[in-house]
Order: sequence, then C-alpha cells, then structure tokens
Amino acid sequence: MSEEKEVTFVTGGASGIGKAVCLELSSKGNSVIIADIDEAKGGETCEEIRSNGGEAIFHSVDVRERDQIRHAADNSVKRFGKITGLVNCAGLVKMTSLDELTEEEWDLVVDVNLKGTWLTTQEVSRDIATAGGGAVVNISTVEAEVVVSSKGYCQVHYNASKGGVKMLTKALSVELAKKSIRVNAVAPGPIATDFVSLEGITAPETLEELKERLLIPRVGLPEDVAKAVNFLLSEEASWITGVHLPVDGGWLTR
Ligand SMILES: NC(=O)c1ccc[n+]([C@@H]2O[C@H](COP(=O)([O-])OP(=O)(O)OC[C@H]3O[C@@H](n4cnc5c(N)ncnc54)[C@H](O)[C@@H]3O)[C@@H](O)[C@H]2O)c1
Repeated sequence: MSEEKEVTFVTGGASGIGKAVCLELSSKGNSVIIADIDEAKGGETCEEIRSNGGEAIFHSVDVRERDQIRHAADNSVKRFGKITGLVNCAGLVKMTSLDELTEEEWDLVVDVNLKGTWLTTQEVSRDIATAGGGAVVNISTVEAEVVVSSKGYCQVHYNASKGGVKMLTKALSVELAKKSIRVNAVAPGPIATDFVSLEGITAPETLEELKERLLIPRVGLPEDVAKAVNFLLSEEASWITGVHLPVDGGWLTR
C-alpha cells in the first residue's frame, strides 16, 4: 500500500464478505465507501468502522441502477477527494431448479451479479482513472469453475452470472490496463455468512459434507476473503492483473 491514503468503493459492503472487506481495508488505513441496498446494516458497518477510528460513509445503492452508482461515486469524490479502488461484492443466489426457474428470477440474479459488476466498474473506473490509476477486485465464486449441486439441483442462473464475472474480469483487465487500473477476481469457496443461511453453512453435518472436497477442513470465514482482496488491491500485487484467485480451502483442487 502506498503512503497516500487509499479510498475504496465497496458494493455489498453492509454485510458478510463485503463487511469484512470494509473492516480489513479500514484497518489498513483506507477510507471506505459502503454501497449497498441494506441501509440498516450499512449504517451499522459504518459505525463499527468509525468507532475503530476509521473513515467510512454509506450510500444506498442498487448496483442495477446507474444513477445511484454515479451519485454515490460523485459524493465520495467530493468527500474524500478521489476513489482509488473498487470491490464488486454485491450479489445474491437463489436455490431454484431449472424447471421452476422464472424469467424474473433469472433477470434478478444475472442483473445484480453480472450487470451490476459491469455497471459499477464502468462508472467507478472513471474516477479511479482520474486519480491516476488503481485496482478493482470482483467477488466471484468457485461456482464460476465447477457446478455445485445444492438440494439435488444446480443454480443455473447463479453459475452463469458468476462464470460471466470471471470472463468480465479478464476483459476489463485488458481494457483498463491502459488507464493503469488492474482488475482481478477472488473466487471464494463456502464462507460462513448469511448468503444462504449462516446456521446451515456452520452446522456440523454441513462441514462433514464439505470435507469431502475441502483440503483444509473448515468452513471459510469472511476475513479469509477480505485478506485476499486487500492483497489484490494493494501495491504488493502491482504486477498481478486478470486473475481469478480461489480462496477456497482447496475446493477446486480435486
Ligand atoms: N457466502 C459464500 O459462501 C460465498 C461463496 C462464494 C461467493 N460468494 C459471493 O460473495 C458475495 C457476498 O456474499 P456474502 O456471502 O457476503 O452474502 P451477504 O448476503 O452477506 O452479502 C451480500 C450483500 O450484497 C447486498 N446486495 C444484494 N443485492 C444488492 C443490490 N442489488 N445492490 C447493492 N447491494 C446488494 C446485500 O444487501 C448484502 O449486504 C456475493 O457476490 C456472493 O456471490 C459468497
């Protein structure tokens, strides 16, 4: 990390992995912009950062809405003078079989996970370029690489959206290189958050099932992902771009 203070825009920063990213970045001296639809949790995360002596602001942003992203980015630049980093973490999954899947649900999942990543990067990368360059990290998943069957079926819309995030990361890394912006992705394995259900993912019987794939036999923590995100944003990773880094306890190894 350079001496100068970094300013990072984090979508989905109100809870789970995004919250851990905000806390990690703040502990390293970043000012943080939390952009999320959940105002209550976003406000709480902001307060937690401030009570630890960090700088954070919350903006109510739906990543499917360009105007909301632009408004939040403009206000952030007014407040902090610049934006140097972006973490695209907002996302959702729906456990629905192919036969039951509706067009509305397909659009919701693909629009938040994939289109939201594109829209936010298109807007915020302009500010990062104005600041002289920086880095973007997209939160993907191991399910961009392999299909994990839950409840006996896949989530075709989730798999498709995150497969798109993987390739979008590569394409953006090529296009944004000329603006001195690196673009990478982190692909988490199963992480203990409320994404599906915190109770479900941390249950002893779930761990027994997961152990069949995990080389490191524990469920991942949001902090495991946050540390990788911090690394990819930092100067330590200044020669790394276009990668899709698994943070998965070895899930993808066999
Ligand atoms: N938890 C896991 O096991 C796991 C594994 C792999 C990848 N991921 C990815 O990690 C990311 C974060 O998930 P999490 O586990 O922290 O879950 P989470 O539900 O705790 O966090 C998701 C956040 O995104 C926000 N969000 C949802 N829709 C939004 C929208 N339209 N605009 C703005 N914000 C929106 C939510 O309010 C929430 O704060 C997701 O992209 C998910 O695909 C999670």
